[in-house]
Amino acid sequence: MDIRIGVVTGGGDCPGLNAVIRAVAKAAHRRGWQAVGILGGYEGLLAPQQTKMLEGELLSGLLVRGGTILGTANQGKFSAKVGHGESRRLPDELLEETKRGCDQLGLIGLVSIGGDGSLSIAQQLYEYGIPVIGVPKTIDNDLAATMMTFGFDSAVACATDAIDRLHSTAESHRRVMVLEVMGRYAGWIAIYAGLAGGADVILIPEIPFRFEAICRKVAEREQLGRHFTIVVVAEGARPAGADFVTTANQPQNREARLGGIGAQVALEIQKLTGKETRCVVLGHLQRGGSPTNMDRALCTIFGAKAVELIDEKKFGQMVSFTGSQVTGVPLREATGKLRTVPLDGGFVTAARSMGICLGD
Ligand code: F6P
Repeated sequence: MDIRIGVVTGGGDCPGLNAVIRAVAKAAHRRGWQAVGILGGYEGLLAPQQTKMLEGELLSGLLVRGGTILGTANQGKFSAKVGHGESRRLPDELLEETKRGCDQLGLIGLVSIGGDGSLSIAQQLYEYGIPVIGVPKTIDNDLAATMMTFGFDSAVACATDAIDRLHSTAESHRRVMVLEVMGRYAGWIAIYAGLAGGADVILIPEIPFRFEAICRKVAEREQLGRHFTIVVVAEGARPAGADFVTTANQPQNREARLGGIGAQVALEIQKLTGKETRCVVLGHLQRGGSPTNMDRALCTIFGAKAVELIDEKKFGQMVSFTGSQVTGVPLREATGKLRTVPLDGGFVTAARSMGICLGD
């Protein structure tokens, strides 16, 4: 009988998903195993099952291809997050149905590629007896127990490129340009890209901000003859004492959709300083396109390690990047805890040393 493993992608897409799928399939084939892709997220495991054999031509070109050839879902029966990141337990009947699906496919292991939502489902599946290994994916970089998730570096590259482009137009028109980036409740994309792109103001969810502080920075630059200012604002940033800004039509039974703080910040800066201010929302551009070199390498190492963990029967683990190596850590250490930007860490300290305004 064939030895077979499954691969599933869940939650929002991001650059590098296909590179992980490729690495998992290739590492499986080297062991003489089959790899089967589950289509459309975990729901593909339920009857009528939606799957695709990962072999042959299907695997070529995947290293550089954005999105996921398997499709993904961040809503439906398996949505684990509601409101502002609150976790939801899956009903036992659904867990039972999922286990039956894995058994029917004859899977000796299931590689679940996802962020906090999908990996907290993976943890529940593991507790229910399904042999799962997690791979940490999210542009937000907010998963605990790994120094970096794949997709993050590509999102930062996109945001940095946007800041570079905004610089020249801001300078030409003597404007304040506000760039809203993703990241949910963590400011990793904003602070990395803000530092890499030379932003003057970086607003992150970890530091509630005051408009007066931002306007002081704009005025300080004016006095120095710098008649433009670049502001990077994370979608989860908020003024001290205020709530998160969410989009108008909030979905039911899903995680809240953040967005809109950039426009508010731009409006207020223009009102308080009299300077023409414009806002750009980078949105899903951060999740599209080819992965960066760093992400391609990380995805390949993650995928290969996931198969190694299946070979060693170390289920219930997630592959994790420690900075110098990739190892396995218990899934439960990674899920349900948000990894935010530490206020006493190197990034915040460096930003302050550079005179960048963090809004406080
Ligand atoms: O978690 C990844 C992410 O891109 C967040 O940064 C963002 O808040 C959210 O997903 C957007 O989700 P959706 O694609 O459902 O709008």
